[in-house]
Amino acid sequence: MEDNVTLKIGDNSYECPVITGTENEKAFDIRKIRAESGYISYDESYGNTGSCQSEITFINGEEGILRYRGYPIEQLAGSSSFLESTYLIIYGELPSQEQLNLFREKVRRSAEIHVGMENHFDGFPTSSHPMAILSAMLNSLGCYYPEMSSNDRHQDLESFDDAAAVLLSKVRTIAAMTYRMKVGRPFIYPKPDLSYSENFLHMMFSNPYQDFEDKSGLAEALDLFFLLHADHEQNCSTSTVRMVASGGANLFASVSAGVCALWGPLHGGANQAVIKMLQEIHDSGDDGHRFIESAKSGKAKLMGFGHRVYKNYDPRARILGKAAERVLSSIGYENDPLLNIARNLEQAALDDDYFVERKLYPNVDFYSGLILKAAGIPPEFFTVMFAIGRMPGWLANWHEVASNDKARIHRPRQIYQGPAQRDYIPLEQR
Ligand code: ACO
Repeated sequence: MEDNVTLKIGDNSYECPVITGTENEKAFDIRKIRAESGYISYDESYGNTGSCQSEITFINGEEGILRYRGYPIEQLAGSSSFLESTYLIIYGELPSQEQLNLFREKVRRSAEIHVGMENHFDGFPTSSHPMAILSAMLNSLGCYYPEMSSNDRHQDLESFDDAAAVLLSKVRTIAAMTYRMKVGRPFIYPKPDLSYSENFLHMMFSNPYQDFEDKSGLAEALDLFFLLHADHEQNCSTSTVRMVASGGANLFASVSAGVCALWGPLHGGANQAVIKMLQEIHDSGDDGHRFIESAKSGKAKLMGFGHRVYKNYDPRARILGKAAERVLSSIGYENDPLLNIARNLEQAALDDDYFVERKLYPNVDFYSGLILKAAGIPPEFFTVMFAIGRMPGWLANWHEVASNDKARIHRPRQIYQGPAQRDYIPLEQR
């Protein structure tokens, strides 16, 4: 087995040590090459760059494998809960019953937000996008916990357990309050006897005079949705959290940046874009085939399809596809026209050379929007739901960066392509 990769530049050879991962994935370490040769490596948008070594999540995109801390996503989706998997992602091991009870209790006790923070909602126009509100509120939340957001990583690490519970719990409260503010309804406060996902539905949809009744198992479907989104190694938002953390920023600031990175339609915003696409296909009287042709001609993108890492079926999409069927039939929507269009699009794409050759398969966002829509979540909030689910991964990745004494600030290089040196021309001569 090779210990080094030899890089030849002109007549010179450079030795790059090989790093081997648990699952035998290999990288060669080029960190010393610039000092030795003057060259940097070039990999725009980081398609083939390992930015860190991590112990949290493993993905094999060719085989469609996803594991949190070694446990296959299918087993966790079948047997675990969002909070249990969250504990696993953050602390590295499945909890004992006692540990799980204590963790649940900590999250439960952290659900309310400071009344001063409730006033922040008055400052946003009701037309604000909920992701903008969420990012701003999570960053502001740190101001209420100065002892947990000191930007001294040793101090912030000491209070990490409390800060993690605060963020996990309150991200859900803030999301629900944002919804209530936007629709002009009074805030509903969390209830101690409800589970994580039940409480979220309660804060979203209960009224002061009538509690929300979950007759169709929506809380269970949401819990699965959150669990499947809980971490996904070095994606755009998690890399952002790590980037911000590498400068020494506190947990609240780092996850607030993660929310902004998640917002775009090529990342977390795709779940909202999928429903928009399905609705437009439906409204135009297409069964999906015309849309497939326009995606092939480059005029449109089949949202919820394709992935930088998965060149096979995204295992989360497989699980969510089945869950969407279950949820929609439990509310009597088994023939929902949008579900039918999604099924047609999937089949048409899987049978089509364009998608097969490019290895484009459904990703996590393809079916998730149908579940959220069935749960009564407005499309504008779909990416907020993703953010609630992704919080454990952001927390664990922040912790990994902050607790690494050898971690350096993230600072990529570039190849400058602008003008060469030139002399300043006084204004009157231009
Ligand atoms: N529909 C049609 N064609 C596509 C799609 C798509 N959804 N995705 C990729 N392609 C095509 C590209 O046009 C390109 O074709 P070409 O080789 O003829 O130029 C080829 O497939 C390779 O695509 P890239 O854009 O190079 O793939 P990249 O890894 O950069 O992008 C991404 C991955 C952003 C996910 C892309 O597939 C996409 O935009 N998908 C739709 C948006 C989406 O669903 N995003 C969610 C991703 S999962 C997540 O973040 C939770």
